[in-house]
Amino acid sequence: MTLISMVSAKGSPGVSTTLLACALTWSAPVLLAECDPAGGALLSGYLSRYELPADRGILPLAGAALRGIAPQELAGQLIDLDGDKRERMALPGLADPAQSASLEPAWLALGMFFASLGPVVLADCGRLAAPHPPLALLRQSDLVLLAVRPRSLRTLSPAVPAIAALRRELAEANVPMGLVLVGGGSSGREVARHLMAPVVGEVAWDPKTAAALCGQGRGRRRGPLMRTASGLRERAAAAIAAHAGQTTVPQPAAR
Ligand SMILES: Nc1ncnc2c1ncn2[C@@H]1O[C@H](COP(=O)(O)OP(=O)(O)O)[C@@H](O)[C@H]1O
Ligand SMILES: [Mg+2]
Repeated sequence: MTLISMVSAKGSPGVSTTLLACALTWSAPVLLAECDPAGGALLSGYLSRYELPADRGILPLAGAALRGIAPQELAGQLIDLDGDKRERMALPGLADPAQSASLEPAWLALGMFFASLGPVVLADCGRLAAPHPPLALLRQSDLVLLAVRPRSLRTLSPAVPAIAALRRELAEANVPMGLVLVGGGSSGREVARHLMAPVVGEVAWDPKTAAALCGQGRGRRRGPLMRTASGLRERAAAAIAAHAGQTTVPQPAAR
């Protein structure tokens, strides 16, 4: 019943790594959906040591969503991130970015479908400035997070137009947005003041765990990245609840 999407402004601040760490640490059930128009990262990264079918994922599910049969098709498109417990599932993204245009008509239906599911859905939406960003899916989200690396206030400048664009895109649908800081540098308070946007959470700079999550090296399930990603769940839930509280229409008092 909760769709949380994450995007980046420019560069590769760590959207895919952060969301994978979240999917592996959040209390289950959770579904990581690779909606990045530039292509998925899981099959060639974290899951690369397994022989997995390459024909599953967002593309066939998009076709099913347009035909109104996504609920029946979903299970067959997923890969279990956790053996075969079916609690931490992943929907692999596009194998070829050239297919992103064909997803465009399906983002609304996919967003509505994800938002209706029981598990929390974490949507990796890639770069906002990429061709064919999944804007209609962002508008169906309960929270949109912009990942940034806050090495210094100066390096945050690409986030300024991205925040403005997100605010424009999300205003009518009244979807809250916030920042996730990947790694250290400027403090959350400084970044929030500088960018005039709330900081929902921070994840630790942890190259060893990040490399393991990209399929290089093993383990480090207890590294700082995993611990801080796990904490994002409560922070995201609090941001969603705060927004709902602010925007609830007051009921007239009973007479
Ligand atoms: N918290 C982190 N600590 C250290 N390195 C990270 C972290 N998050 C991501 N990285 C590294 O940064 C690079 C880009 O990460 P990725 O998640 O693919 O970014 P994006 O999805 O935003 O393009 C990868 O090499 C990844 O290992
Ligand atoms: Mg990515």
